[in-house]
Amino acid sequence: MRIMPLEKRGISGSRLALGCMGIGGSWDRSEPYTAEHIRQAEAAVEAALSAGITFFDHADIYTRGKAESVFGEILRRQPNLRGQIVIQSKVGIQLAEGDLPARFNFSKEHILPSVDGILERLGTDYLDILLLHRPDPLMEPDEIAEAFTRLKQSGKVRNFGVSNMNPGQIRFLQRSLPDPLVVNQLEMSLLRHDWIDHGIHVNQKAGLKNNFPDGLMELMQSEDIQIQAWGPLAQGRFSGRVYENASEAELKTAALVGQLAEQNDTTPEAIVLGWLMKHPAKIQPVIGTINPDRIAACRDAVRQSELMTREQWYTLLVSARGIHMP
Ligand SMILES: NC(=O)c1ccc[n+]([C@@H]2O[C@H](COP(=O)([O-])OP(=O)(O)OC[C@H]3O[C@@H](n4cnc5c(N)ncnc54)[C@H](OP(=O)(O)O)[C@@H]3O)[C@@H](O)[C@H]2O)c1
Repeated sequence: MRIMPLEKRGISGSRLALGCMGIGGSWDRSEPYTAEHIRQAEAAVEAALSAGITFFDHADIYTRGKAESVFGEILRRQPNLRGQIVIQSKVGIQLAEGDLPARFNFSKEHILPSVDGILERLGTDYLDILLLHRPDPLMEPDEIAEAFTRLKQSGKVRNFGVSNMNPGQIRFLQRSLPDPLVVNQLEMSLLRHDWIDHGIHVNQKAGLKNNFPDGLMELMQSEDIQIQAWGPLAQGRFSGRVYENASEAELKTAALVGQLAEQNDTTPEAIVLGWLMKHPAKIQPVIGTINPDRIAACRDAVRQSELMTREQWYTLLVSARGIHMP
């Protein structure tokens, strides 16, 4: 049986990851986190662990650092937890401040102190995985390699990866880096299916507007780079959330997801995620809900990915595309 690329590298972690972007309240700098935010996060972590989720995805910018600080409070209250979970965080985005626009920064002067900030907020002395959040046009691979080497040698970071990168960017970085990049995180779901359409529309007029990077899926699979899907629940579009501007294809797909869930005695969330996870790349969805009931509703996703037939998988895909296969 195929195993996840991360497992092949000895990084143990669950098939599903919990995205922590919703932890810590608002993104407003002037609003500190409260005891209620800690309670809410604790309930989410508990629901995740009960659902077998032991992989947690952070970024230094989430709720302006509050997501990591609140998670750190939980780790302090449950000191045994750190050794049982995988923690991943991201650096490289600087949020807008004053006259300065939001921008990206992969300089070592930015990466190194950013990691120290992450570790301090989380109250841990290491990250299992550090990702570069979004490609910085000014990136210099040798400088990044220097930063990564220092982080690895000091024990602060064990593995490195990227997010939202194309094959050229991955190869450009990789040739300077001492260790293999282990993750690329991308937006993927039944709503965001350009990563599949791209392969289907080779030599088709319909593919002219698809700008998913050529060869990215193939590179990640052949190099054992774990594909992580952000936005995998499509913010609930196919599992109960009502959008006034929903397209006909979305409404039809939501109905199909509901039927399949009923037929398999499971939840719509498990079908939506199971569809992603049936792909042979062993995609790891990073679910963004912090509602304990919704986290529990994702639990059956692995089983659904195994039960889903080719016919059901293609029926969902064609419905979500809103057009037939070429
Ligand atoms: N690498 C990147 O650039 C990047 C970008 C964005 C996100 N991420 C990561 O990916 C994770 C997931 O991203 P995401 O939050 O966009 O993904 P998602 O899992 O598709 O969506 C989760 C959001 O949808 C809401 N939701 C889900 N089902 C719902 C329903 N039936 N009714 C109402 N609301 C529903 C959740 O609210 P509730 O909490 O109320 O359930 C939550 O706000 C983030 O936490 C973060 O870790 C990475």
